[in-house]
Amino acid sequence: MSRIVLGVAGGIAAYKAADLLRKLTEAGHDVTVVPTASALQFVGAATWSALSHHPVAADVWTGAAEVSHVRLGREADLVVVAPATADLLAKAAHGLADDLLTNTLLTARCPVLFAPAMHTEMWEHPATADNVATLRRRGSVVMEPASGRLTGRDTGKGRLPEPIEIAQLATLLLDRPDALPFDLAGRHVVVSAGGTREAIDPVRFVGNSSSGKQGFAVAAVAAARGASVTLVAANVELPDPAGTDVVRVVSALELRDAVHKAALDADVVVMAAAVADFRPSDTVDHKIKKSGEPPAPIGLTQNPDILAELVASRRPGALIVGFAAETGDPGASVLDHGRAKLERKGCDLLVVNDVSPGKAFGQPDNAGIILGSDGSERAVEHGPKSALAAALWDAAAERLLASPRPPGV
Ligand code: CTP
Repeated sequence: MSRIVLGVAGGIAAYKAADLLRKLTEAGHDVTVVPTASALQFVGAATWSALSHHPVAADVWTGAAEVSHVRLGREADLVVVAPATADLLAKAAHGLADDLLTNTLLTARCPVLFAPAMHTEMWEHPATADNVATLRRRGSVVMEPASGRLTGRDTGKGRLPEPIEIAQLATLLLDRPDALPFDLAGRHVVVSAGGTREAIDPVRFVGNSSSGKQGFAVAAVAAARGASVTLVAANVELPDPAGTDVVRVVSALELRDAVHKAALDADVVVMAAAVADFRPSDTVDHKIKKSGEPPAPIGLTQNPDILAELVASRRPGALIVGFAAETGDPGASVLDHGRAKLERKGCDLLVVNDVSPGKAFGQPDNAGIILGSDGSERAVEHGPKSALAAALWDAAAERLLASPRPPGV
């Protein structure tokens, strides 16, 4: 059982931290909530205390005999601050310590994850940008805020990232404290996710059961590591990961257009989507009725292999990453199929997943082997999809480092 301190700063998104708290405790972690005095204006101490099963204080005087302003930070395996307001980020960056949360941040030696929430102007202000840069330079993970509806009538960048996404990154940091270095800053990465749908008529399609969870985890981890991320999502029912630019598509041909467009200046393209190999040759433009003439058998036309096209048209230095969803068969293992596919597709990295029934599709967990065109092989044991995503970005970042981007390209 890991010990997490959940810091809550004073913003309206404090109410969403109650959901995050639930997710962390339900995952079996021991969570102590440390709100600021302003956070208690939004959500009262009784809520935090009841959900965490711990007493709650915002100041350093309550329970002074236990010296909790030092103990909490020292004993924590992870500190998560959600929401992190502009004021809280400024205090953390400058080492101020005027309440229990800021004292805890100074004494903590574990990973620290900030999930910011504030109005767009505050996030974009040079003071906040400098404070965020300082915190990142010191090794803290500062997520990008999400975009969308803010407190008033306005919309823009500044929403708290979804609690599920914060919980996933928190879990990742507990398992691997070094999983989110800020090493993809200045890089543009393109990730495709989900499963394409090929229309038979306006209401029917040929599809597959990809949930998009793995591709979304790849995008979320890249954003947390500083990349500018374009996420091309085919039929995924998940919220946009914070800090990513999401392009929603339906069919393989739409996905192909969106990926090629985004790939023009990309450093890395990750094809995590399950792309239909075939589409109906003719799409009927009205709903096929069972009372009418029996429909003709559905003829199929092969879709272009987008991964192969990306390999053929890549910019010098750009990395192309494929995924291979495989089941073994009597003639060859999952890994044999993966090796043959890497060779055939010509990509730099191939993540091989075992998708035998119940293994990966729609599940929160995954296992995989990351094969490199240089013959390397990195096994990632069964765990959260964000852990496989982090291992993939480790492998990609190593290769990017080996061939730095020429200036101005
Ligand atoms: N892919 C693609 N375009 C397609 C089909 C697949 O870009 N038309 C990409 C997938 O996104 C994935 C990789 O190719 O990154 C491997 O997909 P997979 O379906 O396993 O490969 P196939 O070449 O279709 O091989 P198989 O015969 O095993 O289906």
